[in-house]
Amino acid sequence: MLIDVEQLTYRYPTGAPVLGGLDFGIAEGEIFGFLGPNGSGKTTTQKLLARLLHGYGGRVRVFDRELAEQTSRYYEQIGVCFEFPNLYERLSAEENLSFYGHFFEDGTDAPAELLERLDLPRNDRRPVGQYSKGMKMRVVLARSLLNRPRLWFLDEPTAGQDPPHAVAIRELIRERARQGTTVFLTTHDMSVAESLCDRVAFLADGGLATVDTPRNLRLAHRRRAVRVELREGDSLVAREFALDREDEKRAFLELVRDGPVETIHTLEPTLEDVFLRVTGQRLDAP
Ligand SMILES: Nc1ncnc2c1ncn2[C@@H]1O[C@H](COP(=O)(O)OP(=O)(O)OP(=O)(O)O)[C@@H](O)[C@H]1O
Ligand SMILES: [Mg+2]
Repeated sequence: MLIDVEQLTYRYPTGAPVLGGLDFGIAEGEIFGFLGPNGSGKTTTQKLLARLLHGYGGRVRVFDRELAEQTSRYYEQIGVCFEFPNLYERLSAEENLSFYGHFFEDGTDAPAELLERLDLPRNDRRPVGQYSKGMKMRVVLARSLLNRPRLWFLDEPTAGQDPPHAVAIRELIRERARQGTTVFLTTHDMSVAESLCDRVAFLADGGLATVDTPRNLRLAHRRRAVRVELREGDSLVAREFALDREDEKRAFLELVRDGPVETIHTLEPTLEDVFLRVTGQRLDAP
């Protein structure tokens, strides 16, 4: 395991406990997703692992060494892209990256290429203060890749991006993982969780309710049922049929043969449904 976490606890000096004992591991090259409602502790966990917060309880080993014992070499090997763009607003995107690059002893990738990869304009002299929010976030994303990190922390990497840019970012994450980068991301975007993550963890009430592949989670909680919409006069009426009951299955087949059927859907649960079933909580506030 590249990351090995046992009984991780944390409380902010001013507040109540946030993490009440997390256990999880992340393998090299894996894309691991953290899902949980607002305030459940996703960002806190990432900040602890990125050594932006200190004073945790439990054991956290990264690259086979306890987090608290890591040296400054640690920062050479990780990339961090968190929610709020902390950029030098008066510098251009390329200047921001070049400046940040000086902190790395081992050299960096070319800023211009990384920016271009994230669809930012080439040779743009404008200060990033004049960029839109989505553009600034992409500058921060590019910056987090400068040192070719072995471990990449992404907090809501597609938040605030329009659909084409969200797709491009998903592709970039997939590409880096294929090249061996380990990715630890948080997201509220279910298409990111389902299509990108090798495994997801559900965080609620200070603990991990479950950790598994999105597919296993959906299969474990699926209902073998179909939902049919029928035309009744001017309106559509929905009916559900459980497929493991012979009488309902027969009724469904008869309906399909003779009835005024408009639509048929299997009732595959979404990850949001599974989250609600496992934790009793909604992923996003209603
Ligand atoms: N600097 C801080 N000082 C005190 N409490 C904090 C601080 N930052 C966060 N918290 C508290 O810790 C808890 C977890 O916050 P965190 O930001 O980790 O949640 P999150 O899962 O990332 O939520 P979101 O989905 O909104 O990003 C919340 O109750 C929050 O109020
Ligand atoms: Mg957060």
